[in-house]
Amino acid sequence: MNTPRRPLLPMLDHVRGKRSAVTCALKCDNACLGEVCNTSSNGYFRDVVSNELSRRSALGLGLASALTLAFTGGQPAGRAEASSSSAPAAKLPQPTIPKSKLDFTPIRPVDKLVDELTVPKGYVWRPIIRWGDGLFHDSPDFNLESQTAAAQARQFGYNNDYTDILELPGSAGKRAVLVTNHEYTNEGIMFSAAQLASDAAGTRAVARAAHGLSVVELERQNKNQAWRYVKGAPLNRRYLIDTLYEFTGPAAGSALLTNPGDPKAQAGRTVRGTLGNCSGGTTPWGTVLSGEENFNGYFRAAATSKEDKRYGLNDKPTTRLWELDDARFDTRNPDYANESNRFGWIVEIDPMDPTSTPKKHTALGRFKHEGANVRVAANGRVVAYSGDDERFDYLYKFVSKGTYRAGTSKADREHNKTLLAEGNLYVARFAGNSPSSEIDGSGKLPSDGSFDGRGEWLPLVVDGKSAVPGMSVEQVLVYTRLAADAAGATKMDRCEDVEPHPESGKVYVVCTNNSNRGVGSNAPADEANPRRQNRDGHIVEITEDGGDQTATTFSWNLLLVCGDPAVNKSTYFAGYPADNVSPISCPDNVAFDSAGFMWLATDGAPSSIGFNDGLFRVTLEGPERGKVEQFLSVPRDAETCGPVVRDAERHVFVAVQHPGEDGTFETPYSYFPDYVPALASAGKPIPAGAVRAPRPAIVQVLPAQHARK
Ligand code: FEO
Ligand code: CA
Ligand code: CA
Ligand code: CA
Repeated sequence: MNTPRRPLLPMLDHVRGKRSAVTCALKCDNACLGEVCNTSSNGYFRDVVSNELSRRSALGLGLASALTLAFTGGQPAGRAEASSSSAPAAKLPQPTIPKSKLDFTPIRPVDKLVDELTVPKGYVWRPIIRWGDGLFHDSPDFNLESQTAAAQARQFGYNNDYTDILELPGSAGKRAVLVTNHEYTNEGIMFSAAQLASDAAGTRAVARAAHGLSVVELERQNKNQAWRYVKGAPLNRRYLIDTLYEFTGPAAGSALLTNPGDPKAQAGRTVRGTLGNCSGGTTPWGTVLSGEENFNGYFRAAATSKEDKRYGLNDKPTTRLWELDDARFDTRNPDYANESNRFGWIVEIDPMDPTSTPKKHTALGRFKHEGANVRVAANGRVVAYSGDDERFDYLYKFVSKGTYRAGTSKADREHNKTLLAEGNLYVARFAGNSPSSEIDGSGKLPSDGSFDGRGEWLPLVVDGKSAVPGMSVEQVLVYTRLAADAAGATKMDRCEDVEPHPESGKVYVVCTNNSNRGVGSNAPADEANPRRQNRDGHIVEITEDGGDQTATTFSWNLLLVCGDPAVNKSTYFAGYPADNVSPISCPDNVAFDSAGFMWLATDGAPSSIGFNDGLFRVTLEGPERGKVEQFLSVPRDAETCGPVVRDAERHVFVAVQHPGEDGTFETPYSYFPDYVPALASAGKPIPAGAVRAPRPAIVQVLPAQHARK
C-alpha cells in the first residue's frame, strides 16, 4: 500500500543517531543530523591532564604533583576543604539494603514492531487522559476529523514528557492533581494529508494549541483504585502559547530579553508561551519545573551571530512554519530580534493556584534544559541540577542564595517560590583517574575496574557576579552555553534527566547517547563518556564531597554502561552479572521509589537494540546493585516518559509519548490507547470517544485486583 507523503514533512529521508527520522525532525529539529553546535575547544579529560601538566610546569611544580592535581579533578585539595567549610558538611544517612514494595516478574523485551503496551503478569494498564480529552465543562468532544484550535485549547494537548501526580492535602489520597507537558506535535498523524493541504494555517493553529502544559485534577474511590480525571475541576488549566510568563532573576528586564515593541513597564520581564517542554521536576514546596528544550526548532533566525549558532538557530523555514502566522517566530524581523532568547529556560508553575503567573528563572541559565531537579542541602540552600541535552553539551548546578522554609503556611510556600530567582550557577568538569591510554573508546573497563574519577563545579555566576571574564551576568545567563565553553566544562553525551537521590543525595546523570562521540574532529571518548559512537548511553553517579549538595567538588563513577549485553560486550551494570539483566538502551527519564530504587524510562531503544522503549527498575544498593529489570514496554514508535512510581500502592504511571510516530494519519503504525480496529475485529463495542489514531496519553499500571474494584 502506498503511504501518502506528508506535505509538512519533506525532509525525512534520514535516520541519524538513535530515534526515528520523524522524531528527529519534529522533536529536535534534527539536532543530530547537522553539525555539532559545540565547536568550542574547551577541554575533555585528556586536555585537562595535559593542560594541568603544562600549567604546573609553568609554575615550577613537578610531574607527580601535577598528576595528583589532574586526578583530583584539577583542583588543589585545599580548595575542596575551603568550600566545604563554608557550608556545613552533612552526613547523610547511609541507605540500608532495600527491599522492594513493588513485586513483579520482569517482562521480556518486546520487538520494536509490536503495537502493545506490555506490563508484568498480574498487572493491567488504564489510560487516565489522552490527547483531545476535554479539561473543562465547555470543552468540545474530541473530533479527530474536524479539529479546531479553539477546541484544542480546551482539551488535553499532545506528547507528554514530565509527569507528576500530587495528592491534594486533606483528600485522604482520593484527590490529586496531574501535571504534565506537551512537548511537541506530529502533524503527519494528527491530520490527514488532505487537511494539511487544504487548511495548512488551521492545522498549524491546532498544533500550537496542542503545545504547552496541562494541569488536571484526578479522583478515585479509595487509595487502591485507578485514578480518573475530573472534567471541569477547579484546578484544571491549560498553559497555551499566549499564556503570560514572568522572568525572574538577574536577566529579567535585560536588553537581551527585550524586543523593541515591548511595553516599557514589561520590557524583558514577560514572554508569552513555553516551548519544547521536556522533562522536569517537582520541588519540595509542591511546584513543578519544566525544561524548555528544543526551542530553537520553532524560530527562523538570521543565524549570523555566534550566540544563535551555538543554540542551533538557523535561517531556514521551520518545520512547523509558525513564522507564517506570527512574526515573533522569525527573529530576522527586528521587532522580534530577541524573541528566541525568551525560550530555553526552566519554567516553574504552581499547580495548586490556577490563577498564578508561571515563571521562567533566568538564574538557572539558558540552554536546552532537559529538566531540573531540586534537593534541599543540609544548610537549607536549594540545589537544582540540570542537563543540556545536546551532543557534547554540559551538566549544570544551581545553588540558591536563600534557604528553604520547611513550613507549609502560605507565607512559607511563597518564600520558597522565590528561591530559584537568585543564586550561584556552576557547570561540571569531570576528570578520570585511569590513564587515558586505557580509555580506548571501546567501553572496555580500565585496569582499576571502574570508569570513575573526580570532578568540580566550575563557577559561572557567584554571589551575583559573573565568573566568566568578558561576560556580564546577563550574558552568562542568556548565553550560558558560551559561558560554559569559556569556563572549560566537560563535553557530555547528551545529559537528559539529572536527579539527586532523595535519601543518599547522590546525583544520577542520564547520558542518553551520542553517536558522534569520537567521530571525526569531535571530542574523543573520555572516562566519563567512554564509548566511541555511543549509541546506548550510560549513567553517571555523582557523590558530592562531604555529602554536601552545595560542594564545588565531587567524586563520580559510571553506574551503568547501557546496551543489550547479549550482543554488546561493552555494557556494564555496576558489576552485576550482565547475563542476568534486562537489555536497556538510551536511558532518559528517572524516578525513585520509596525504597530507594531507581526507575529508568528509555527513548530510542528501537533504533539501537531493536526493542520497544520501556520502564526499568535499577537496584542501587546492596549485593544486587546494578540489576536492571524491565517493568513495562510501550507501543510501537513511542518513548517512555514520566515516570511516577507509587510502590507502596503498587501503582506506576507513565506518559506514552509519540506512539505510532512513523506512521501517517491514513496508515497509522499504532492505535494506542483506544485500539479501535482490534476492538472492531473482536466484535467488541467501541467506547464513546475512542478514535482510530494513536493518542499520546498518561497511563496508570496497577494490580489487576485494584482495577476490578
Ligand atoms: Fe526531550 Fe532530552 O529529551
Ligand atoms: Ca578509573
Ligand atoms: Ca528526555
Ligand atoms: Ca525523551
